[in-house]
Amino acid sequence: MTEMTPVTDTSLATKAVPALPDAQKVTEVKHYTDRLFSFKMTRPVSMRFRSGEFVMIGLMGDPNPETGKVKPLLRAYSIASPSWDEELEFYSIKVQDGPLTSKLQHIKVGDEVILRPKPVGTLVHDALIPGKRIWFFATGTGFAPFASLLREPQTYEDYDEIIITHTCREVGELTYGRDLIEALKDDELLNEVIGEGFWKKIKYYPTTTREESPKMGRITDLMRSGEAFEDLGVPPLNPESDRAMICGNLAFNLELKEMFEDYGLVEGANSNPQHYVVEKAFLD
Ligand SMILES: Cc1cc2nc3c(=O)[nH]c(=O)nc-3n(C[C@H](O)[C@H](O)[C@H](O)COP(=O)(O)OP(=O)(O)OC[C@H]3O[C@@H](n4cnc5c(N)ncnc54)[C@H](O)[C@@H]3O)c2cc1C
Ligand SMILES: NC(=O)c1ccc[n+]([C@@H]2O[C@H](COP(=O)([O-])OP(=O)(O)OC[C@H]3O[C@@H](n4cnc5c(N)ncnc54)[C@H](OP(=O)(O)O)[C@@H]3O)[C@@H](O)[C@H]2O)c1
Repeated sequence: MTEMTPVTDTSLATKAVPALPDAQKVTEVKHYTDRLFSFKMTRPVSMRFRSGEFVMIGLMGDPNPETGKVKPLLRAYSIASPSWDEELEFYSIKVQDGPLTSKLQHIKVGDEVILRPKPVGTLVHDALIPGKRIWFFATGTGFAPFASLLREPQTYEDYDEIIITHTCREVGELTYGRDLIEALKDDELLNEVIGEGFWKKIKYYPTTTREESPKMGRITDLMRSGEAFEDLGVPPLNPESDRAMICGNLAFNLELKEMFEDYGLVEGANSNPQHYVVEKAFLD
């Protein structure tokens, strides 16, 4: 990490930072709940990425009490916007005592956010072999890479059916994903680029676990009981037709992986495309 010179006003790192080498300007901020928000920023012209990948973003940290030096405080973030978009979008948690998000949650349009433009990740089409149906399994902010892939033309070129499941504790935590999927229908650019009515291939399956909603329960339990497949009108996953991407907390990822092995699906990677891929939505 590059060391930066001390700044004078350290009360709000975003304001105190002078021109940073990797800084981008915030162009939009939306708050959904007291724990969730999304924001957009400018995209370096030279930055290329594959829909589904993540980058390191952040703010300047507090000064070291001994040396007075400040360093960038960076965290991994899935890029929520598709690879063709001229801006970058992110969907973020607000951890009240989190080193980064306790500050990041206060960003405003015009502020600067540090972006290390070196995208990586396993939730990419290149890591899967051809199939008929693709499943995106998310909990919480694990929806972010799928916000990118749901706006990626290749998703619709490669698959006849796209199933997105999103499990959250509370109803309000589904808003970002639900609004995004709803907006696909009226998005003129996407209907033109991907093909009129492309969104009809999507089956959206939101569930909550701690607040009443039309579909309650963890997706894992709903799959084990067969209820999810019945609701969606599809058979359980099988290696011939189904491909999947998983992005959630560690326990969720591990539980689904175990279920997938029982279905006969094999985990893939960039270097070895297979039936499914997994990425953590955050480190525990
Ligand atoms: C590959 C990867 C991609 C990621 N993509 C995103 C993303 O798109 N959006 C996002 O908000 N975060 C994402 N994260 C998590 C992110 O890197 C940070 O952990 C998060 O921004 C909180 O930073 P912090 O410094 O405030 O707290 P940290 O010290 O990083 O985390 C404190 C604690 O908060 C909890 N926590 C952290 N992140 C989350 C989260 N996203 N949801 C629920 N609880 C969490 C964990 O229990 C963690 O131990 C990703 C992490 C990884 C590894
Ligand atoms: N969301 C909140 O309102 C809230 C508020 C304050 C603090 N926090 C803290 O923030 C952290 C992250 O919370 P989060 O709600 O964003 O994420 P989370 O704990 O990962 O939960 C997100 C969703 O995933 C489900 N889930 C968890 N493990 C699963 C598994 N193995 N299989 C299937 N589904 C699984 C949860 O169901 P269950 O509900 O059944 O676990 C919940 O619906 C936690 O440490 C939490 O204590 C959260």
